Amino acid sequence: MNIPKTLEWIGSTTGHLSLIDQTLLPGEARYIDCRTVDAVWEAIRVLRVRGAPAIGVAAAYGTVIGTRAKIADGVEPRLAVALAADYLATSRPTAVNLFRALDEMRRAADEAAPGRMVAALLDRAIAFHRADQQMCRDIGRHGAELLSDGDGVLTHCNAGALATSGMGTALAVIYEAARAGKRLKVFADETRPLLQGARLTAWELQRAGIDVTLICDNMAASVMASGRIRKVVVGADRIAANGDTANKIGTYGVALCAAAHGLPFYVAAPSTTFDLNLPDGSGIPIEERAETEITEGFGKRTAPVGVRVYNPAFDVTPARLIAGIVTELGVIRPVNAAGVRSQFPHAG
Ligand code: MRU
Repeated sequence: MNIPKTLEWIGSTTGHLSLIDQTLLPGEARYIDCRTVDAVWEAIRVLRVRGAPAIGVAAAYGTVIGTRAKIADGVEPRLAVALAADYLATSRPTAVNLFRALDEMRRAADEAAPGRMVAALLDRAIAFHRADQQMCRDIGRHGAELLSDGDGVLTHCNAGALATSGMGTALAVIYEAARAGKRLKVFADETRPLLQGARLTAWELQRAGIDVTLICDNMAASVMASGRIRKVVVGADRIAANGDTANKIGTYGVALCAAAHGLPFYVAAPSTTFDLNLPDGSGIPIEERAETEITEGFGKRTAPVGVRVYNPAFDVTPARLIAGIVTELGVIRPVNAAGVRSQFPHAG
């Protein structure tokens, strides 16, 4: 299957982060080099790299780059790590994978000999990267069981290879089911306002040879009513201890539509997307983005100058609407605090 590589570290401790600039897709598949922590921060902030797991991996490598520069400026190694990690933590607020990655790098710093700080951080970032790739494969394996030959499957936003460092989460489920010979018909919501579904999911699935049909977000209910969709699979940016799930804005509406039509709504996400410190979804920080994403997306003004705009980038789907959460460990079902706890008994 032709699955794109989202990011990779090039070279040794003096190396850099290379990532596909997702703001240019589907028109151009261009890789850019991030050699400064500012470049990594900016890439995350403006969604050159996006999707919860991919943001985490990028931030891990960003910490290597930022720490290396601070040490070269004479900053004490552990302080250098703290400064780089604190800075990267300000790039985007909702995907908890970012903060998990930064915590992992802080732990690596605590355990490292100061003389080999950059090497120790790079080792840890590479391990975090490899673990993300393995989690994607395992999610695909567990989730593929949920799909049947002939299913119509709706997905929202992009939870594919482009959103991770591996084969994706929701789309890994689709890739693995397809690899097992199941014939699927995937519907991709275009995902206003930044069109991750149209620009990224449709591009990625098409390249992989998966049967994909693009629809506008406001068509999901009627396509469900027509009988074309049998199941919904989406990704997640942060999952609370009771299973409430934050994902791209519009996901909650899709879940409500699925419930109204009696269709199972599944979430696919690695353990790094769970925030067991939050008892429910009400505490999940929801990023608000620039008004211009709605009033003049992609350079064309489509709203009157001066109109008031509200642009939350994520919403929270309550656990009661979720039929199952696929993780690298299996499927959490039913989705509630006990179900989540049973999969992560040693956490929290
Ligand atoms: O704003 P984005 O594009 O980073 O939002 C991404 C999503 O909402 C994805 O569905 C989520 O991160 C899951 S990625 C495997």
